[in-house]
Amino acid sequence: MTSKNADQKKLLQALAGEKTEIPALWLMRQAGRHLKEYMEIRAKAKNFLDFCYTPDLSVEATLQPVRRYGFDAAILFSDILVIPDALGQHVEFVPGTGPKLEAISTVEELGKLKPDRLHDHLAPVYEAIGRIREELTHLPGETTLIGFAGAPWTVATYVVEGGGSKDYQKTRKWAYGAPEEFGALINILVDATSEYLIRQIDSGVEAVQIFDSWAGVLSPGQFDRWVIEPTKKIIGRIREAHPNTPIIGFPRGAGLLYQRFVQETDVDGVSIDATVPLAWAAENLQNHCAVQGNLDNLALLTGGPAMEAEIAHILAAFSDGPFIFNLGHGILPETPVPHVERLAELVRGASIG
Ligand code: CP3
Repeated sequence: MTSKNADQKKLLQALAGEKTEIPALWLMRQAGRHLKEYMEIRAKAKNFLDFCYTPDLSVEATLQPVRRYGFDAAILFSDILVIPDALGQHVEFVPGTGPKLEAISTVEELGKLKPDRLHDHLAPVYEAIGRIREELTHLPGETTLIGFAGAPWTVATYVVEGGGSKDYQKTRKWAYGAPEEFGALINILVDATSEYLIRQIDSGVEAVQIFDSWAGVLSPGQFDRWVIEPTKKIIGRIREAHPNTPIIGFPRGAGLLYQRFVQETDVDGVSIDATVPLAWAAENLQNHCAVQGNLDNLALLTGGPAMEAEIAHILAAFSDGPFIFNLGHGILPETPVPHVERLAELVRGASIG
């Protein structure tokens, strides 16, 4: 594997706390259904998890948005639910409905989760990472490969509810009612997620992002216990094995608690959702770490002057510190490609030096 000089890569510069002349740009969920080339290869797999575990397909899906848009980062193509799947919980993606899992909601049922099979099950992901790094050396530009995992709280909501949900009542009730039992599930996920991310880095990812998509439904006390504490443990373990690999946290919807999150977890970057006021984030987050965000994915989908005005505000607000341009949440499947092209043009035209 040829390794490019890390200091030349914009995304890594920002995560090292440096202001870059032009912000690094990538988009959460950049691979996937908004690209017709994704739909073509998606049709080749019998289901979504098979797609994730077939390196020929996952390598290609990872590279597609980088080839098309020349983004500064590739994000490993996979899903946060490969962890419960690898632990032995039955996970299925039902087309048009979303993920469906055989719910685990008692301490006895936790015995169904088998950590010993984790790495064997995830071996195709590790293989894909090595191949992506190799492929990236043949593309123009300095593209950073980002690995990822779901945070324990968010993954636990799927494990307990058996799929997506509006307000995660079952999970939140278990967490309040029997914190020791629920904590046992969180600990299993902390262990598996730490090992998974360490292996991703061993295999070649250059930064990792921890997606806590449902962090925003928790009260401050519960946020400390189920978002901050598990994230701190994972970060501690990653840093023991790989002290120089930057870590981005994404406690989506955390509001004022984003500040506590960056102070307590000591992340290198924080991804913020589109509801976070820009000046507040520049003042209270960007002095601790790189800020990543936060264009509304619906502004991108809509395009036009409204999108352009939002982009200009974001670029201006974060121009004094380390910044990575991204969305506030994943790109939506209906997003037109020309809107993404226009976004890339505007971000690249911005000089914040
Ligand atoms: O960013 C990327 O391009 C890498 C790929 C990626 C996927 N999922 C691919 C995917 C990433 C980083 C994820 C993370 C993920 N998965 C999260 C956290 C981020 C977020 O958006 O909040 C969550 C909550 C999931 C769980 C998940 N996966 C759901 C709820 C769904 C169904 C809804 C949907 O978007 O389709 C998925 C399926 C999924 N994951 C698809 C893709 C491309 C679509 C499946 C398909 O192609 O049939």
